[in-house]
Amino acid sequence: MKETTKTALRATAVLAVAFGLCITGLTAADAKSNPIKEAMKKYNAAPKGTDPVCKKASEGKASKEEIKGMLAAYTAMAAAKPPQGDAAKWKQLCDALVAATAALDKGEAGAADKFKAAVNCKACHTDFKPAKK
Ligand code: HEC
Repeated sequence: MKETTKTALRATAVLAVAFGLCITGLTAADAKSNPIKEAMKKYNAAPKGTDPVCKKASEGKASKEEIKGMLAAYTAMAAAKPPQGDAAKWKQLCDALVAATAALDKGEAGAADKFKAAVNCKACHTDFKPAKK
């Protein structure tokens, strides 16, 4: 490999790292002011090897506190504007999710199944979550 090529590669690597740090910083800042990301991180996603709260809820295993927290988070998310997609459809999906979570909170029969249908990640992400850049 020519010396210039090596230098160019090294420069690219340094830039890539710097850029990565920049993105991470941005994401962390956004999460605070973005109720959607907050709800996703807190209730829909979980560290490897542990179940996210939404999964526990689908199986009827979430605690009362977890369900109450989820209800608040999804209610805030419903009031937020998604980064993309149709506002009417967003409202419809979020309303269904909030209603199902409220049903879980009240301990209604069939609530877990209703919740499982409403928390469908792909159905919502396809329209409303921006594709990775
Ligand atoms: C009712 C809609 C909806 C449902 C259901 C939903 N999501 Fe999301 N999710 C979103 C939107 C919108 C974003 C993009 C938020 C943004 O970029 O501002 C997102 C982003 C995310 C992110 C990235 C968060 C971040 O900090 O960038 C993760 C992780 C995620 N969702 C996980 C899940 C999982 C797992 C499920 C299913 C168990 C799920 N979501 C269900 C709407 C939804």
